[in-house]
Amino acid sequence: MIAGNRTINYLRISVTDRCNFRCRYCVPSTPFTVIEHEKIARYEEILRIVRLACSLGITKVRITGGEPFVRKGIFPFLKELCAVEQLKDISITTNGSLLTREKIEALISMGIKRLNFSLDTLDPAKFEQITGRNRLQQVWDAVLTSHELGISPIKLNTVILRGINDDEIEAITALTLKYPFHIRFIEYMPMGDSAVEKQQQVLSEEIKERIESRFGTLNPVKKDTNDGPAKKFRIEGARGIVGFITPISSHFCAECNRLRLTSRGTLRPCLLNNYEKDIINPLRNGASDDELKDIILSALTRKPSFHGLSGSLVKGAPISHMTSIGG
Ligand code: 5AD
Ligand code: SF4
Repeated sequence: MIAGNRTINYLRISVTDRCNFRCRYCVPSTPFTVIEHEKIARYEEILRIVRLACSLGITKVRITGGEPFVRKGIFPFLKELCAVEQLKDISITTNGSLLTREKIEALISMGIKRLNFSLDTLDPAKFEQITGRNRLQQVWDAVLTSHELGISPIKLNTVILRGINDDEIEAITALTLKYPFHIRFIEYMPMGDSAVEKQQQVLSEEIKERIESRFGTLNPVKKDTNDGPAKKFRIEGARGIVGFITPISSHFCAECNRLRLTSRGTLRPCLLNNYEKDIINPLRNGASDDELKDIILSALTRKPSFHGLSGSLVKGAPISHMTSIGG
C-alpha cells in the first residue's frame, strides 16, 4: 500500500484499551471509562481485517493495548495470527507484568521472536510512582527470562520524566553494556489530560548529551530496512543499542510506514491526529472483502504528511489517550 511516497507495510493492532497499570504519562488523570465489550473488535474480526490488509501489502504486525495480555483468549488469537502466511514479522508491546516463563515459551513456540517492554525505571519505588503498581520484579523477571529463552531483539521503551526518573538515564543506558537490549528513549507526548506537566518533558538531545558525557561518543548504527522511527546508536563496545524516538523534537512522519487498528475497530492513519475510519461497523453489517479493502485504502489517503505537535505542549493537542489507540 502506498500513501504519498511512503510504502505502508506495518499494521499496529490494539487488542484492548484495558491495562493493569496506570502509567502517569499514559492514562488520563481524570476518571475515564473503558470501552464496552461489544464495541471491542472480536478476534475473528481482527483476523479478517489482518488478512485483507496483508493482501494489500502489510507484512508486519505489532500487537499492543492497553496491555495485550490482559485480554482473554489472547494466546489462541496470537496462534492464528502467526498462521497468516503473508506475515513475516509479528511482535508485541507489553508491560511484561503478566508474562510468566510458560507464557513466554508459548509465544516462542508460535514463532514470536521479538518483544517490546515498557520499562521506565530500575527502582521499585519509582516504578510504583510511575505505573501505580508494585511490579518491577515481575517485569524485570519477564525481561530476563525472555532474553534467556532467546527472544531477540528485546526492546525496552523508556519515557524519561524530569523529577521522576531523569536521574536514571545513565543506569538504564548501562544495561546495553551488559545485555544486547535496545533501549529506546521515547519523548513524552502530550495526549490529553495525563498527570505529566510540561516542565517534566525531557527531549532526546538532553538525554543524548547526558549519555555521551558519561559513556563517550554514541556511534550511529545503520537502520535496517523496515526499521521504525528510532535513531539508533551504540556505546563503544556495548552489546545493546541506545535509540531515541523523537515525536516532539524531530518529526519522522515522512518515514512513517504504519497504520493502526484500534481496539474499537477503527483504522487510525496517524497516532497524533484524531482522524479515524470506521471499519468494524461495515464489517459487522456484511461488507464484502473488496468493500473492506477499499476502506483500508481510503484510510491511508488520510495519512498526514506531518503532525501538529511541537516542542512545547500544545493546548488542545491530541485527545484520545494512549491506551485506546495502542501507542
Ligand atoms: N508519550 C510517550 N510515550 C508514551 N507511551 C505511552 N504513553 C506515552 C506518552 N504520552 C509509551 C509507553 C509504551 C509505549 C506503548 O508507549 O512507554 O512503552
Ligand atoms: Fe498500560 Fe502501557 Fe499505558 Fe503503562 S503505558 S498504562 S503499561 S498501556
